[in-house]
Amino acid sequence: MANHPLITHKLTVLRDKETNSQVFRHLVEELVTLLAYEATREVKIHPVEIVTPVAPTQGAMLSLPRPVVVPILRAGLGMLEGMMRVIPSADVGFLGMVRDEKTLQASTYANRLPDDLTGRQCYVLDPMLATGGTLVAAFNYLIDKGAKDITAICLLSAPEGVATVERAFKGSEFPVTLVTGAMDEKLNEHGYIVPGLGDAGDRLYGVV
Ligand code: URA
Repeated sequence: MANHPLITHKLTVLRDKETNSQVFRHLVEELVTLLAYEATREVKIHPVEIVTPVAPTQGAMLSLPRPVVVPILRAGLGMLEGMMRVIPSADVGFLGMVRDEKTLQASTYANRLPDDLTGRQCYVLDPMLATGGTLVAAFNYLIDKGAKDITAICLLSAPEGVATVERAFKGSEFPVTLVTGAMDEKLNEHGYIVPGLGDAGDRLYGVV
């Protein structure tokens, strides 16, 4: 869990039901940028030689193949800009997942991703880690395509969801990493995070 006063401040404004969509979208972008700093700590780089106006020196640059950022539609889309600001050369793949509000089961309704993710570091964007069903399905989908290095960035998480993800990938050949802005109290009977912020997609884009 990222622990920083600026993250706490921004999350507090985000949670407030009086915060309008415009401010909400802006805050989501800022929060992702802050969380991305932590999430990309292990991004692959390689040494390069450059010459400054003063002297030759050795630096490091992002390695190929480029990392892949995977927003989970619809709400993950609100996190894309903030992530791309930190890592603009990344490729972007889209995963459309929806959960049945009665069974809370996640299913894929759209995807646009490279066929082969072998050797690619993947950063999954999903604002709310609630039951964990969507994230587990998304991780399995990426693993099936060859990804071995997956990090999820979630603004808020429920302990139940984190436990589900941990159970699903415990002892797995492909450990997954989760970076979250806050760990909330629990899920309610509708699968919403408490205290949470409500429906992230609706708060970003309005009720449809
Ligand atoms: N999805 C949301 O948008 N909000 C929640 O609280 C849980 C899942």
